[in-house]
Amino acid sequence: MTPLTVITDPPPTAADAGVAELAARLTPGTFLRVNEPLAPKTTLRVGGPARIYVEPGTEADLAIVRRVCAGHGLPFFLLGRGSNLLIRDGGIPGVVVRLPGGAFSAIRVEGNRIHCGAGARLREVANEARRNGLAGLEFMEGIPGSVGGALRMNAGAMNSQTFTVLESVRFMDPAGEVSERPVAEVPARYRECALFRDHIALAAVFTGRPDLEAAVKARMEAYGRKRWESQPPQASAGCVFKNPSHSAAGRLIDQLGLKGTRVGAAMVSGVHGNFIVNTGGASAREVLELIELVRARVRASSQIELEVEVQIVGVD
Ligand code: EPU
Repeated sequence: MTPLTVITDPPPTAADAGVAELAARLTPGTFLRVNEPLAPKTTLRVGGPARIYVEPGTEADLAIVRRVCAGHGLPFFLLGRGSNLLIRDGGIPGVVVRLPGGAFSAIRVEGNRIHCGAGARLREVANEARRNGLAGLEFMEGIPGSVGGALRMNAGAMNSQTFTVLESVRFMDPAGEVSERPVAEVPARYRECALFRDHIALAAVFTGRPDLEAAVKARMEAYGRKRWESQPPQASAGCVFKNPSHSAAGRLIDQLGLKGTRVGAAMVSGVHGNFIVNTGGASAREVLELIELVRARVRASSQIELEVEVQIVGVD
């Protein structure tokens, strides 16, 4: 087994009293680092480090992290694939946890059901469903996130969303207790599931509809083509704003001629108005300024208050 890795350079301050306890209690196979850069772990590639970063090897270790955080009053943040996330330049001054591969990312198909760990990538879930002749999860192929992130956000694409194909979830509460609930008992709406603001998704069961593998594959390919034509390939956090009712944020921004608008190295994509791309070395501050500029222009022209979809975390 891999030994517990603790790298403490620079050394932790008194504010990190939890580090010593974590290092003492976590088992080998769990990974702990201080001042871990987070920008490379996000698709937008901006933001500062995590004061304490943990990849738990087991659910028991994850529960220990939660309890130690509660005991020391340390803020806890669960990082998924970092695809819908803007971390401020000062980073996250608490504990950041990411579920690694292995048991947290397993995908297993039984009949029409797809059992997935929260760390599994959505693209792999969609492909596994296709290989087993199950339809309904094709929309996941192009979402660059994990199952846990998709549950938190009720992620969607191509007029479908995560909770539509969800049957049940397993999760850990802030005290470290694990339970399971059917989807009917987990309220969710467009791009939001409140339960996973403070509960950690551990696993999900999705249900597919039997179909020919070739038909599922054809739909996935069509979705992929649509995405490549309408969304930018550069570093971004996906759509920045939720769509307001009865309109599309991207269209509103496009109609105002804001594509190509820049603050430093952050730019409103020329391909899709609801994407801000990092053209190289952008700071979180630049992205945030551009978001505010766009909101102000939309507000002034149409009285619509755009709501940010991307999760903004950390300190300046
Ligand atoms: N449009 C423009 N100009 C633009 C962008 C879009 O006129 O610059 C128009 C399009 O022509 C279309 C309408 O606006 O008539 C909607 O555009 P699109 O089909 O690209 O969908 P969207 O509503 O902008 C949503 C999701 C995406 C998802 C796509 C594809 C939201 C906020 N966005 O985008 O999700 O990939 O549908 O299904 O709901 C995300 O949530 O991060 C995300 C990327």
